[in-house]
Amino acid sequence: MPSASSSPGGHQLVVVANRLPVDSRTLPDGATEWVTSPGGLVTAMESVMRTVDSGAWVGWGGSPGDAPDPFEADGMSLYPVQLDQQDIERYYEGFSNGTLWPLYHDVIVGPEFHRGWWDTYQSANRRFAKTAAQVAAVGGTIWVHDYQLQLVPQMIRETRSDVRIGFFNHIPFPAVELFSQLPKRNSVLRGLLGADLIGFQRESDSLNFVAAVRRLLGYQVEGKTIFVPGLGAAPVREVQVQTFPISIDSTAVSALTEDPEIRERAAQLRRDLGDPEKVVLGVDRLDYTKGIRHRLKAFGELLDDGLIDPHGTVMIQVATPSRERVEAYRQLRDEVELIVGRINGEHAPIGRPAVSYQHHSFDRRDMTALFMAADVVLVTALRDGMNLVAKEYVASRPDLHGVLVLSEFAGAADELRAAVLVNPHDIDELKAAILRSLAMPPEEQEEAMRSLRHQVMEHDVQHWAHQFLESLTASGAPEDEATRVVRLSGDAPSDPAQLEETLREFTAVPRLLIASDFDGVLAPIVSDRDAVQPDQQALAALRELSELPGVAVALISGRALADLDSLTAMPSSVVLVGSHGAEVGALPPWMQAEVLDKSVLSMTPQKEQLLAGITSTLRRIARAHPGTEVETKPTAAVLHTRNAKGRGAINATESALEYATTLPDVTVTPGKEVVEFAVVHTSKGVAIDALSRASAADAWLYLGDDVTDESVFARLGGDDVGVKVGGGDTAAHLRIPDTEAARDLLRRLLELRGEQS
Ligand code: ADP
Ligand code: G6P
Repeated sequence: MPSASSSPGGHQLVVVANRLPVDSRTLPDGATEWVTSPGGLVTAMESVMRTVDSGAWVGWGGSPGDAPDPFEADGMSLYPVQLDQQDIERYYEGFSNGTLWPLYHDVIVGPEFHRGWWDTYQSANRRFAKTAAQVAAVGGTIWVHDYQLQLVPQMIRETRSDVRIGFFNHIPFPAVELFSQLPKRNSVLRGLLGADLIGFQRESDSLNFVAAVRRLLGYQVEGKTIFVPGLGAAPVREVQVQTFPISIDSTAVSALTEDPEIRERAAQLRRDLGDPEKVVLGVDRLDYTKGIRHRLKAFGELLDDGLIDPHGTVMIQVATPSRERVEAYRQLRDEVELIVGRINGEHAPIGRPAVSYQHHSFDRRDMTALFMAADVVLVTALRDGMNLVAKEYVASRPDLHGVLVLSEFAGAADELRAAVLVNPHDIDELKAAILRSLAMPPEEQEEAMRSLRHQVMEHDVQHWAHQFLESLTASGAPEDEATRVVRLSGDAPSDPAQLEETLREFTAVPRLLIASDFDGVLAPIVSDRDAVQPDQQALAALRELSELPGVAVALISGRALADLDSLTAMPSSVVLVGSHGAEVGALPPWMQAEVLDKSVLSMTPQKEQLLAGITSTLRRIARAHPGTEVETKPTAAVLHTRNAKGRGAINATESALEYATTLPDVTVTPGKEVVEFAVVHTSKGVAIDALSRASAADAWLYLGDDVTDESVFARLGGDDVGVKVGGGDTAAHLRIPDTEAARDLLRRLLELRGEQS
């Protein structure tokens, strides 16, 4: 975590969020008490800021009227922003929670639009921006959070062009068709584009945002880089959009479960409920996005049907009060309380509830005791940015007991694939999932919980914040990803014992992605690229691996997709990616298609025209250098120099690279005796990122031999394994000599993983 110590001009790191991490409450004697603010944003950022030397947090104190003076808490400087009663009604309850919140959560309730709300949204945003700009040090970093403050990045930039500005949206970003309903939509987009880096929870949110910018503002977009035109003589600015799934302080939550007093509280809780066999738990802010009614309906029907015995099973629903002056929230509270009352009236045994309803806050320790006491936790959000409750439950179960039922519509579902995933709109499916979870044998619970814990413990909120701030520092000065790191030089193969050890550790990880390049790894390089002979045993090993539980397999090649398909004849369980990531084949049904950015890959008439021009120039170069040839792909043209005579290969390559300097919007990738000109911006590295997200892999292994594979190796993280086939500088950790060794490695992976299934 970067140091945020104060400098003479102010703070190196300033967080700006609607709420401070603490809310002020006025006690009966007139004194002020500060309590932790509600919601996932504060849960996450509070623990991050505790690890920063001296950060600043700009936000509202939770009450109307004059803001208190800045004060220190937990080693952080807090700068309260004033909101008067009208600001609260129009900016907070109005535009933020009456317009944006429902619109961004896919219109679960209808958004309201009022022009007066927008005016106050602007003026309140300006107040937050002004305070942040005052307290940030020269050259410092300002990190703006969430939908309430979308205009703040641009407002800060107007006065402080020296600072780096990041924005993170904690809630979903809707599809462009929905976003387009928003009055002042372009002002909102421009406000956000004041940031250098814009982060979202899910890949689908990032893609929705980029699509909205492209469609509504018409700005040039390459992948997830947006080119914001400068006004007057100002230069074009690059804004990066990236996905950063937020998390929790996993180690701290897990550690609480060791506390004997909390263990006793958990045991006491079950005794207080009359020692039921099973405890089912829901924990949410009382919000219509959380699917509380759907969950109660399912539970109530199971009681009605006699499939759940209220003497043996109790449900606890914790529903924290939230936004109680907004009409939709009032209505929800009435409805939830009515349903709970009906269920208890009809089913509760004398002296104990069928549903224990808790409409208040708990401290962290009590919350952990609740999670420890729960056999099943129901997270049934109809739409949710992430949902930290799901991750908190997993972190609270080092004993590997308990079942998480998780909505597909919560961001957490992208990572927590071993949960019982449900569509909460389908009440029958929800009922079946609850019954299945209540009956799940301990071994099955353990297996799922082990995978879930791997995700949550490895990807904690510190890691999330670190990644965001690192990307923010790098934004504006992007490095060439293919040349960033060199871990191995020369051509000596790795020590076989080290290789074996790495493969053993890798195959022990719950969910794997195994991916490979084709030419030079699964097939020896030959001069006639159509005469290539893939190693059938290596292909067979990949096929078998793709059939094992928890293993996803992909081939990522520079060849066109159709070519790769006919050469490998892979079954549908293996994903094929062609043209360096620009063409993606069919995905198996369990993979999440929406995380792959098809829109970036689509060709526009301008790109078609550009590609036609490139192809004809390359053909001219090929005619001048006998033996070279041009291959055309759907999104690229490639000059092959493998069969050129004498200096022909070098001369043709030089001509092609010189021509490349005249083409600013084209990705030019020189490889082994090839130069590829792609008019869509992608790489094998982008492809591995997308595939590992789509398969929710805990770790991936990649085999590659070429410089184009370095974009994959440059992204190796914690448990990932990169294997370079052949000599040369590489960012991979391991080296093997040739395609035979690649085949042996794949067979060994199959043996090791097979032993575990
Ligand atoms: P949201 O941000 O929409 O409220 P999340 O699930 O991401 O939803 O985060 C909610 C946070 O609030 C979690 O950290 C959760 O433990 C906490 N929380 C929810 N209900 C209560 C409660 N009654 N008392 C204390 N903390 C709560
Ligand atoms: C969600 C939002 C936060 C918000 C929190 C609590 O987590 O993403 O921005 O602070 O809910 O809502 P409230 O309206 O009480 O601040």
